[in-house]
Amino acid sequence: MPDLKTYFIRTYGCQMNELDTEIMAGQLQKRGLLPSLDEETADVLIFNTCSIRDLAERKVMGKLGQIGRAGKKNAIIGVTGCMAMAKRESLFRKFPHLDFVVGTNNITDLGTVLDEVLYTNRQVYKTDDRFEENLDYLLAKRDSKIKAHVSIIRGCDKFCTYCVVPYTRGSEVSRPAMSILEECKMLVDQGYKEITLLGQNVNSYGKDKPEWNCLFHDLLSKLDAIPGMERIRFMTSHPIDITLELMQAIRDLPSLCEFVHFPIQAGSSRILKKMHRIYTKEQYFEKVALLRQTVPNVSLGTDIIVGFPTETDAEFQETYDALKELRFSVAFLFAYSPRKGTPAMRWKDDIPEEVKQERLQKLIDLQTEIGNEERLQMLGQTVEVLVEGFNRDGGQLKGRTRCWKKALFPGDASLIGTLQQVKIHSYTHQTLIGETVESHNLLTVG
Ligand code: 5AD
Ligand code: SF4
Repeated sequence: MPDLKTYFIRTYGCQMNELDTEIMAGQLQKRGLLPSLDEETADVLIFNTCSIRDLAERKVMGKLGQIGRAGKKNAIIGVTGCMAMAKRESLFRKFPHLDFVVGTNNITDLGTVLDEVLYTNRQVYKTDDRFEENLDYLLAKRDSKIKAHVSIIRGCDKFCTYCVVPYTRGSEVSRPAMSILEECKMLVDQGYKEITLLGQNVNSYGKDKPEWNCLFHDLLSKLDAIPGMERIRFMTSHPIDITLELMQAIRDLPSLCEFVHFPIQAGSSRILKKMHRIYTKEQYFEKVALLRQTVPNVSLGTDIIVGFPTETDAEFQETYDALKELRFSVAFLFAYSPRKGTPAMRWKDDIPEEVKQERLQKLIDLQTEIGNEERLQMLGQTVEVLVEGFNRDGGQLKGRTRCWKKALFPGDASLIGTLQQVKIHSYTHQTLIGETVESHNLLTVG
């Protein structure tokens, strides 16, 4: 039986996967394994995978195939995450050198699965459809000492017709508020300055457990009340579940950042209906108006899919116009990718790839323009920046504003992990540049 000393986890996809990787790392370290910097020589190699688009899956399939062909493999290789759920034990047929497959709802079982692989020398899989609330979140080994992700709800019940998530992560299961509070208090005590609450649909929080009497905005109030809590973010929100109470919470709770990521996905009501997004374009616009009226300094983020089956030029134009009118400060833009097992697979993927790419490029160009205009308007403003470290060339400190904008400014290492007031004097592509108000004063005094 091989003696397992080191592990390497390669993570693909969303923040939820990043957090699951941190939790798995915690479990492996508890077993005495150490993180390895080298994927090729680690005793346990895990691919924590994503299935959201075809490209994400192809990357992992390519990598697994490559390891198989090389003939030399790590002691144990496993696949976790969404692909583990989408493909399950069929992965063993394609990749005989794979040792285990652990689904998104079974990361608690990683240790027992490893033992089973070691003792039986057989391929082992564990892929339950539903998440059981038995995960030891406190084990998570986070890379950052400043910002932490915290899971509050797993799964998704929305069933948008293009999306694999309800199949790869199962139905919504909220995490008990006590457990979330315990973890957040621990993080604040350890000096973390920013907590991002994660879920496929965070604002459904508590709806699956009416007896708890604790909806998302109630949870936010409890978390905001933790002494020393500096910043809270959350993602992702489904527009239909954004309530007035949530908007008021963003306005009233000091630690809650004024940034809401709530994807519109498309600007045509017919396409939205076909996507099963359960709101019309007009209803989305009304939500944005109410949110901006309630929280005047709010910034918005969105995801958009172009080239959904049957999307006409005129319907794409509606998406383009919506992006132009709504002025999101962050937009993740995607070309539709058909996913096995989703309702949209029934429809022909009838928008040619060149048309999808052309539409995507138009949105990217528009969003670049909007981003630059937004940064231009911020010149002269003073914003709060949480300092995360030095930028790549080491010359400046980098961080993010409350509204999730990147900012750079001069300063020394003692400022890392602190909140600084930064006056913006210029910007480059994607990034604000400024200097701290305090250091400016010091300069003028000294
Ligand atoms: N094709 C393209 N983009 C997709 N997304 C989800 N499923 C697909 C798909 N099949 C996008 C949505 C979602 C984001 C995480 O990924 O915009 O909000
Ligand atoms: Fe996928 Fe829709 Fe659920 Fe988001 S809300 S995870 S897009 S099914």
